[in-house]
Formats: sequence, structure tokens, C-alpha cells
Amino acid sequence: MRTEEQNLAIQYLSDTAKAVEAKFDEYLPSPTIEPCRLHEAMRYSMFAGGKRLRPALVKAAFELFGGQGESVWYAMSALEMLHTFSLIHDDLPCVDNDDMRRGKPTAHKKFGEATAVLGGDALCILAFELMAKTGNAKAIEILARQLGTFGMIGGEMRDVECEGKTVTLDVVDYIHYHKTAALIEASLCIGAELAGASAKDIEIIQKFGKSIGLAFQVVDDILDIVSTTEQLGKDAGSDEERGKATYPSVIGLEASRERAMALYREAIAELDALEGNTEVLRSIAAFIVTRVN
Ligand code: IPE
Ligand code: IPE
Ligand code: MG
Ligand code: MG
Ligand code: MG
Repeated sequence: MRTEEQNLAIQYLSDTAKAVEAKFDEYLPSPTIEPCRLHEAMRYSMFAGGKRLRPALVKAAFELFGGQGESVWYAMSALEMLHTFSLIHDDLPCVDNDDMRRGKPTAHKKFGEATAVLGGDALCILAFELMAKTGNAKAIEILARQLGTFGMIGGEMRDVECEGKTVTLDVVDYIHYHKTAALIEASLCIGAELAGASAKDIEIIQKFGKSIGLAFQVVDDILDIVSTTEQLGKDAGSDEERGKATYPSVIGLEASRERAMALYREAIAELDALEGNTEVLRSIAAFIVTRVN
């Protein structure tokens, strides 16, 4: 992995963040309109920071397959709203019970549980309103499926159920694929779908997303152990405290690192079958396995 490759990803992520954050401001309801507190909470979590990885993946896939037009910005914003909704609910006392997120107090710490639950709900629903504006029913269907019981929500459910239990690696794979990789995979497939990519190309990008999405969560597990709350902007050590089913808890830190690298190589190999310029996706994949927060 070369440094220029990681630099390309960092630049792409920061350019995307700047552009998409201007769209959030346009699409999110004003905090001066009732219910003001709800709108304030939605904006608080959306503007707290974050890598904006999912919008960057939507855009990179859209560009790779020659997408044209402005509808991609609706999808990019929707993906980040859905991700933020998942974080707000993931942090709740009844789920992971965490105090810090994106370098700030979690939504429930700042606004109380009721507002955090409702703010998350409202972000989820606004995301689908924005997706409807793309006019692409297939993209909306992909997103709903990847988020629901057979996607992110299903993964979160198993994550909660397995707390404090001894689990096999198959169970951890299930949890990690569903709670995290599903939305990463969806970001890529939706970018490709909006660009009008062929079914064959969408299948390739989906496999890339699955591997890199799983790698993303393996690295998240590792960082929870080796990093600090200051570096992460969220509570380090939270997994061990709650007895979570993680990669390091089942196979150890070193084998988890090796697994992340193996998934990275599998992901990159998928891209070889594509004709367009895959440089940005390759760089983001490298960033995912070398990131420090
Ligand atoms: C954190 O996601 C939650 C997981 C899926 C592991 P990110 O690490 O992408 O969080 P932000 O968006 O940068 O804050
Ligand atoms: C969260 O996994 C995945 C979702 C939010 C759906 P984690 O619980 O590991 O994420 P962090 O570590 O709190 O960001
Ligand atoms: Mg969790
Ligand atoms: Mg959590
Ligand atoms: Mg985590």
C-alpha cells in the first residue's frame, strides 16, 4: 500500500465531506421551525463530523460507471442520514450505552433519550424522502433491504442478543456483515444503479462492498481495543465492557489484523474485472484498512 494511495482517499473524502455537508444544510429542517428541539438534534448529530465514507462510496461508484446529473446528491445525503440514524440508536443506553460520538456527547446525552430516538427516526424517514427524489425505485428497494431485518437492523439485533455470550466466528461474521457491511455495500450499489451500470457490474461492486465493509468492521473492533477515546472520538474499550461479539474477542488481535488485510485483498481483486478507472475505490479500500479512527 503506497502513501499516495492513502492521500488520494483522504483528499476524496474531505472534498466529498465539504460538498455533501452543504447539501445536508439544504435538506435538513431548520432549527427555528417547530419542533425546534427535534430539528436541532438532527442537525447536531449530522454536523458533529465523521468521515462521510458512505456518501464518498456512493459518489465514487456513480463516477466509476459514468453517472451524470444531480440525483446522486440525494442518495449521498440519504446514506449519511441513515448511517447517522444507526449511530444515534446504537449509542442509546438500551443498546451500547455510549457517551461520546464524533468527538462530542452522544445525542441522548445531549438531548435526552426521547429526542435521540425521535431524531434518529426522523433522519431515517427524511433519507427515504430524499431517495424518492432520485426517481429510481430499484435504488430505494436496495437501500430498504440492506437496512432492514436482513441487513443493518438484523445485525444490530444479533449484536445485542450475543452480548456476554461465547460465539463462533460464523456468528461474528453474520453480525458484522449485517450491521456494517450491508450499508457500505448499499452505498456502492446505489451509486452504480443511479449511474445505470449493468447487472454484471453491480454484482462486482457488491462483492467489493461486502469484503471492504466487513474489513471496515474488523478494523473498528481492533481500534476499539488499541486506540483511545480522544483518537476515536467515541468510547474506546466499549466492546470489552459490554462483552460484545467481536473479531478480536474470538480470534485475537493479530489474526483480526490478518483477516482485515485478506478481506482488503479480496476486495481489490474484484475491481480487476471492471473496465473504468477504479483508482478512487482502490484508495478508499486502502484507507479503510489503515485508518486510525
Ligand atoms: C462507525 O462508523 C460505526 C460502524 C459502522 C463501525 P464510522 O467509523 O464510519 O463513523 P463516522 O461516520 O466516521 O463517525
Ligand atoms: C455499529 O457497530 C454498527 C451500527 C451503528 C449499525 P459498533 O457498535 O461497533 O459501532 P461503534 O463502535 O459504536 O461506532
Ligand atoms: Mg453496537
Ligand atoms: Mg456502538
Ligand atoms: Mg465498534
